[in-house]
Amino acid sequence: MHSRIRTLEEYHADYRQSVEDPDAFWAACAAPFTWRKKWDTVRGGEFSPAGTSTWFDGARLNITENCLDRHLAQRGNKLALIFEPNDSKTRHLRLTYRELHQQVCQFANVLLNNGVEKGERVIIYLPMIPQLAVAVLACARIGAVHSVVFAGFSATAIADRVNDADAHFVLTADGLNRGPKQIPVKSVVDEALVTCPGVRRVIVVEHLGWPVTMQEGRDVWYHEEAKNAALTCPAEEMAAEDPLFILYTSGSTGKPKGVVHSQAGYMVWADYTFRNVFQVEENDVYWCTADIGWVTGHTYGLYGPLLAGSTSLLFEGVPTYPDAGRFWEVIDKHHVTIFYTAPTAIRSLMATSLDNVLSYSLHSLRILGSVGEPINEEAWHWYHQHIGKGRCPVVDTWWQTETGGIMISALAGITPSVPARAGLPLPGVQPVLLNQDGTEIEGNDQEGYLAIKGSWPGIIRTTWGDHERAQQTYFQPYPGYYFTGDGARRDEQGLYRIIGRVDDVINVSGHRFGTAEIENAINQNEYVVESAVVGYPHDVKGQGIYAYVICQHGLPKTAAERSIYEASIIETVVAEIGKIAKPDKIQLVSGLPKTRSGKIMRRILRKVAEGETSNLGDVTTLLDPAVVEEILAGKK
Ligand code: WT7
Repeated sequence: MHSRIRTLEEYHADYRQSVEDPDAFWAACAAPFTWRKKWDTVRGGEFSPAGTSTWFDGARLNITENCLDRHLAQRGNKLALIFEPNDSKTRHLRLTYRELHQQVCQFANVLLNNGVEKGERVIIYLPMIPQLAVAVLACARIGAVHSVVFAGFSATAIADRVNDADAHFVLTADGLNRGPKQIPVKSVVDEALVTCPGVRRVIVVEHLGWPVTMQEGRDVWYHEEAKNAALTCPAEEMAAEDPLFILYTSGSTGKPKGVVHSQAGYMVWADYTFRNVFQVEENDVYWCTADIGWVTGHTYGLYGPLLAGSTSLLFEGVPTYPDAGRFWEVIDKHHVTIFYTAPTAIRSLMATSLDNVLSYSLHSLRILGSVGEPINEEAWHWYHQHIGKGRCPVVDTWWQTETGGIMISALAGITPSVPARAGLPLPGVQPVLLNQDGTEIEGNDQEGYLAIKGSWPGIIRTTWGDHERAQQTYFQPYPGYYFTGDGARRDEQGLYRIIGRVDDVINVSGHRFGTAEIENAINQNEYVVESAVVGYPHDVKGQGIYAYVICQHGLPKTAAERSIYEASIIETVVAEIGKIAKPDKIQLVSGLPKTRSGKIMRRILRKVAEGETSNLGDVTTLLDPAVVEEILAGKK
């Protein structure tokens, strides 16, 4: 086992060992960490169909001791985090490992003083500011389970998550900056908490200096609380399999599910995958553009880099403010060496003038990464040529909220990196392609459902409060495998190419939404009788959201009536989920194509939305084939 793989031969040797003797392999990977007590068994539990894998069971640890305390002697004065604010004219902030350690301890003491206990869930609804990173680590320090809700979600979405997690504590801020806009975050929380009677305390971080309503007895200011909080705080000793965090993500049914990751396995996986995929060196300045509100921000913005003792840059803003050169400006300013972003950001920047790139040197860059959705060849080449200047390896990293970390990807500069291929599996990961009936498809140049044989340290442990759902979703569809929900192709060389979801999940700008979840939201609208949502190819977002909606009084009679309905439907989706789930196209219809048994034929709706209207397939089994004509005529 090489702690850092440096050659293709080492990759093959390590891959083989990880499959043949996983216990020895992962024990060696885990050895350098700080353990209060070593494990009894490396791998345990029942992987499938029960979905009860355990890793390093019996061990005792605290992940923040491994992210922070472990580095103090050697790296106390090294930068742990660099914060670049939304506005380029506002000063950036840097925190050394020693300073971050102090801030985390102080925040942890504020949590303790406010009654947060080990095992308790804390909902974090904070913008990408230093306190978000500090708050997450502070929860982990005292053994509270953090559940970060991306600060673009609506009040209803927050309330659903607070109640599902049965959380008594919420951390938030007065407001946030997003490009040219300021958003009053605290008032969104106030609205959410009307339906969350369980919440006892809201801790508010001052960021914009905006006036907010503080509810007596419930709400406190962080800066007031911090005055009485010590700068040291012993780390709570956790069991390897205690939950570390919950992150809500969409599935193919209506309600987002709380994906649970645990302490030790997640830690080892985050560290191993981070260092190997990005081939990290001591002096790298690494920047993952994902918000900490998503799993990418958890594993590769925060935990992975800190576990490795690296310097991680966190950015509050957006790629296009004040102009479309902002990313490249930040790279030059902080001498970023490793840059990790999403295809949707690349495509949106590609669409602007190349001058935005050419004004910057980008000479510090040495490795580029992509995540969240398939990267199309055009975007891959643009990224490689114009950002990497043809000299930086590009890693296209495939993984999921449920996998905790990267599963299939090139190791930068070591294993093959081919446009539109994620590449080879990481050590410990055994991908297979399955037929519909669950048999493995052998050989190369094949396509099928992507599943994973055997457990790996970062695997999802459960869905919060509903283990049955985790079993049914991931482990029971094909017993013996973890089912990913993606379709994939293994090319002639054995490299994996991810094709996209095979379930009713759509991927919009790298964010996952269940079609049922968006339909549920649309159906809340007063005018709406029924709806059906599908994805369609979108130049920038990857997939766009196309909604077919039946309104109460039939089709609108005038253009004005149509716009009222459409605007109202959008407003409802924004209120129920958030702006990120706003339909791109709404087509009002008088009926949906249904089979005689009442099932919506999504295949037809998908084809229409994709513009593939010449071959709709067999429509004779439809209850009313005439609705198809109407839908075709009204296509957006
Ligand atoms: C789904 C997981 C964990 C990364 C952020 C998204 C798609 C992710 C790739 C990639 C093709 C990808 C898959 C996957 N996906 N990365 N490199 N190539 N598709 O996490 O929200 O849990 O979504 O994103 O469809 O199943 P997520």
